[in-house]
Amino acid sequence: SIPIYRTLEGYREWRRKAHDEKKSVGFVATMGALHDGHLSLVKKSLEANDHTVLSIFVNPAQFAPHEDLTTYPRTLPRDLELLESMSMSVPGSGDAGPAIRKPSAVFLPTVSQMYPSGISQDTAAQKGTFVEVKGYGHQMEGKTRPAFFRGVATVVTKLFNAIEPTRTYFGQKDIQQALLLRRMTRDLLMSHPSPENLHIVPTARDKSGLALSSRNAYLTAYEREHIAPALNRALHYAHGMWSSSAPKAEILKYAAMVVAEAAKHATEKVDVRLDYIEFNDPETFEPLPDDATQSSWQAGDHGRPVILSGAMWLGKTRLIDNLVLGDA
Ligand code: PAJ
Repeated sequence: SIPIYRTLEGYREWRRKAHDEKKSVGFVATMGALHDGHLSLVKKSLEANDHTVLSIFVNPAQFAPHEDLTTYPRTLPRDLELLESMSMSVPGSGDAGPAIRKPSAVFLPTVSQMYPSGISQDTAAQKGTFVEVKGYGHQMEGKTRPAFFRGVATVVTKLFNAIEPTRTYFGQKDIQQALLLRRMTRDLLMSHPSPENLHIVPTARDKSGLALSSRNAYLTAYEREHIAPALNRALHYAHGMWSSSAPKAEILKYAAMVVAEAAKHATEKVDVRLDYIEFNDPETFEPLPDDATQSSWQAGDHGRPVILSGAMWLGKTRLIDNLVLGDA
């Protein structure tokens, strides 16, 4: 079965061996409650690396005091079973036939391992070392969750230092997180991984278009099937209007109506609130001007794609999704 490392010392011994054998190490960081989205990242890693390491750590620093740290789904036995069942056939080297690759190790640290100086969810009470990607953590998701990206950048730096990955894989589902972390590897001159070895993997969805998420486990079957997919529908609706030259501010109004309609036609009692839908610059994360259109954006000197993203509350559950419009 897959070796599980609960201490840094144990993992480092394994890592040293991989290094001596000149093996590449792919890394997937997770908070567990694994689903096919996580597994699609693991598959990408298995394809491209001799070894694949996955971490499971529910990071207190990225949850605000009022958020769901204590109730976040924890399903370790099932997570390990899922990982055990994964395997991928890759062409062998030289005359060797195809080889079977499986995940090589799981890193499962404790909170005190990851935060030797301790960690409080109250930012004013925090002591020790934190990583902040200044200027990029207050827009989009950071608007609703002001300390979130500081918590993410901090824990991912620690995980990169611990794991020493050759390559790493993040989901487009959390596009701002992935782009911010890529910037962080560049700003901090990291080599494990280097910025070009941080790969972004497309969002895995169910048949309704709903982005897979550990937090979907909080939803009732009705919410999941009939209400939650409205966020993705709203984004596609907005994309359609963008393609037919409508200005941003008008698109946002109509997109909000798609979510409102889903709530209005619900046949069970639901509590739906759209947090935001917005078009943002993938470089600066700033929202596009209200009068921006697809052609005004493309005519700008940036030639960049646009991030169309949104967040929606369903009761106490917050769901996010995004589309990247144009060449990524
Ligand atoms: P978590 O939500 O567990 O996600 C782990 C990784 O899986 C992230 O890179 C995320 O973008 C990716 N992922 C989640 N759902 C996905 C989907 N439907 N399709 C493709 N990829 C998906 O994101 C975190 O954990 C944490 O912030 C972490 C980076 C581990 C730091 O604590």
